[in-house]
Amino acid sequence: MIQLYLGDCLEVMKGIPDKSVDLTFTSPPFKEKDVEGEYWEEYDKWFTEISRITSKVICIIHSATKLNYLISKYPPKRTLIWGKGFSQYSWRFNPILVYQISDDYKINKFIYSDAFGVQPVSSKSESRTHIYQDPEILYKAVIRMFKGCDTVFDPFMGSGTTGVTSILENRSFMGCEIDPTYFAIAEKRIKYAKQKMRLTVLVNSTFARLTCYSASCGSTCRCSRTTPSSLCTRWSGAYTGNCCSRITFSRCVTR
Ligand SMILES: C[S@@+](CC[C@H](N)C(=O)[O-])C[C@H]1O[C@@H](n2cnc3c(N)ncnc32)[C@H](O)[C@@H]1O
Repeated sequence: MIQLYLGDCLEVMKGIPDKSVDLTFTSPPFKEKDVEGEYWEEYDKWFTEISRITSKVICIIHSATKLNYLISKYPPKRTLIWGKGFSQYSWRFNPILVYQISDDYKINKFIYSDAFGVQPVSSKSESRTHIYQDPEILYKAVIRMFKGCDTVFDPFMGSGTTGVTSILENRSFMGCEIDPTYFAIAEKRIKYAKQKMRLTVLVNSTFARLTCYSASCGSTCRCSRTTPSSLCTRWSGAYTGNCCSRITFSRCVTR
């Protein structure tokens, strides 16, 4: 299930029932100038609503410059580190604050890494569509840790990185974005992720049909370029006549 909302997340969240998402994963605006009104007043409102609608875990990626205040005002259960490498004369990082919402879902059981070294999306990258676009690989690594969090929510979608990675991790996703241009970008990226996911399922089932069940088969397919494998004689499905390396089939599985 995918639900995307164009609008102010505070308004949208008002309509979302208590504890209806498992994981809120977000990177909120972190500069005073990007927020209407006083920054911490707005933050209080967001945090209150996010805490109401989330049932298991909240992950907030924020700026290192606000870390001390955030930790004293909203102490997280754990703080993960996104190491961003060297930029403008120093090594940079962003904290990822993790809040455990329920004792029924103990986050320490799920977190298997506290630090992630990931290059930020370069301003020169063709795939960058948002000034604060975060790397998919980072989001994927964090979301993947939280097994059983089937519904993911991002109130500040930006270009939709949380949505893309949630879909690729087989989760349901809900997201809001206030800026129509960014909303359209997020919508497009998430739609593409969904198509990619469908394609993966299709490819996997094709592989399954072409799996070799010959009892004499070795575990690695030795393609002769005319038959699927010089060792394999029996196939569970119809052989297409293609060379197996061309269909990127590289392993035969013995029953
Ligand atoms: C730091 S960016 C998120 C970037 C995102 N993680 C990505 O990878 O593209 C924060 C986003 O929140 C949006 N935003 C700011 N205030 C908002 C509000 N009240 N409701 C919904 N979205 C908001 C901004 O337009 C911006 O796109």
